[in-house]
Amino acid sequence: MIKAKSTVLIGLQYGDEGKARVMDTMLKDYQIVARFNGGANAGHTLQVGNINIALHQVPSGIFYKDMMLYIGSGCVVNPKKLLEEIKEIKSNGVKIDGRFFISGYVTLIQPHHLLFDEIYGKDIGSTKNGIGPAYADRAMRAKRSEIKNIRFADYIYNNKKFKKMVRDNLAHMEEKHGMTEVDIDKQVDEFDKSVMLIKKYLCKDPLMIESLVEKGKNIFFEGAQSVMLDVVTGATPFVTSSRTIAAAAYTGGDLSNRYHYKTIGVAKAIMSRVGNGPFISELGGEKSENYCAEEGGFAHIKEKEYADAKPEDLLASKEFFDIGKGLRMLTGEYGATTKRPRRIGMLDLVMLRQNCKLNGVDELYINKLDCLVQFNKTRLPGIPIVVGYKLDGRKIDYMPTSVDEAREVKPIIKYFPLIKEDISLFKEYDKLPAEVKGLVEFIEKFVEAKVCGIGVGPEREQFILLPA
Ligand code: IMP
Repeated sequence: MIKAKSTVLIGLQYGDEGKARVMDTMLKDYQIVARFNGGANAGHTLQVGNINIALHQVPSGIFYKDMMLYIGSGCVVNPKKLLEEIKEIKSNGVKIDGRFFISGYVTLIQPHHLLFDEIYGKDIGSTKNGIGPAYADRAMRAKRSEIKNIRFADYIYNNKKFKKMVRDNLAHMEEKHGMTEVDIDKQVDEFDKSVMLIKKYLCKDPLMIESLVEKGKNIFFEGAQSVMLDVVTGATPFVTSSRTIAAAAYTGGDLSNRYHYKTIGVAKAIMSRVGNGPFISELGGEKSENYCAEEGGFAHIKEKEYADAKPEDLLASKEFFDIGKGLRMLTGEYGATTKRPRRIGMLDLVMLRQNCKLNGVDELYINKLDCLVQFNKTRLPGIPIVVGYKLDGRKIDYMPTSVDEAREVKPIIKYFPLIKEDISLFKEYDKLPAEVKGLVEFIEKFVEAKVCGIGVGPEREQFILLPA
């Protein structure tokens, strides 16, 4: 008989849906938090009391004293960045040693991966964390290939051999890609030192997670990035390089799927996306995509947009592009560190339904519902939400698998009653205005997943659980 439960949490759109705050309400029932995909490309800030910690690679349960934290084999790890993160955690008086483990199978992000991503990641606007090149090297396998993947356990077991490999890989970059500025000795030494300093977190036993869960420990899998950025089913090439879907928790988290208990999906009521690629419900379509990509995204950073126009004036415009811009300003949709503008879109229920179904979402959480109030400042007849797609004049109810075809899709918009009141101070679902409850019920029916909670503001307490 299975004693423990395994829960998987994923983002259902393009990332930045507010997954951490949903997790935060749930972790008290779990003893292990694990990452199963990606690396330092993920990121959010956790705040408890007056402590603020930016997490990129360490799983989110860090503030729970006895929580075990695990980075699964599906991840890629940047040793130097991880050390910086651990240092920040420790400097805030939070204990991590003895409860943090990294699978020996994880691929190490080597210095050449970062260099490679710096040049080639530009094409798709990567986070420059070396994610794509590292996963690519992992998939190459070839013994004679010039560039070689290195797993954590291998590096520790045969340090000399693999240190040389790091050097060769870097030298190869210099030779083949003309990078003469690279200080190879410095980079290799720094890398080696960092790997050796995280050696104490190495998990050599592939059965560790399985046996803990078998003994009754509950595990929570924290998805990074989101399903629309999945390397296989996302809009290639504008995706990340790992599998981000719920099922990947088991392949990348080193547990058999027999323990699966439930899948939690997180979405937000006004969508946003970083980087290029199709975004059917984008306000301002291609114009917005190009605008947000100008000068690598830096042409219209937060301060610049505020200096250029007042958000209220933009919202009053007839153009969807301007409305998107005004919404971005009023809902704070900028890169947390880069301040680059995120592309803004209407809530797309066709996409949400597809992702709820393909990931078997049992519980749906919708953040930023309060932001819909901003539509009161527009001239639109209501809150615009995408409820259908048109392709070549025909109605379709899925996102085409071809990226180019997806770009041809036109959204069918339904206008929902405007929400007249500021809902950010509400605490109980039943007391919310009828427009909000009507919308939530519509979403539930449309996507065929139970809405279990809504976010009505950025603060911890601005989160309303729905009656069961
Ligand atoms: P990479 O994962 O750094 O290779 O970047 C690939 C694409 O995924 C780029 O468009 C990134 O902006 C996007 N991306 C990667 N991680 C995240 C995330 O955590 N949130 C949102 N977008 C992300």
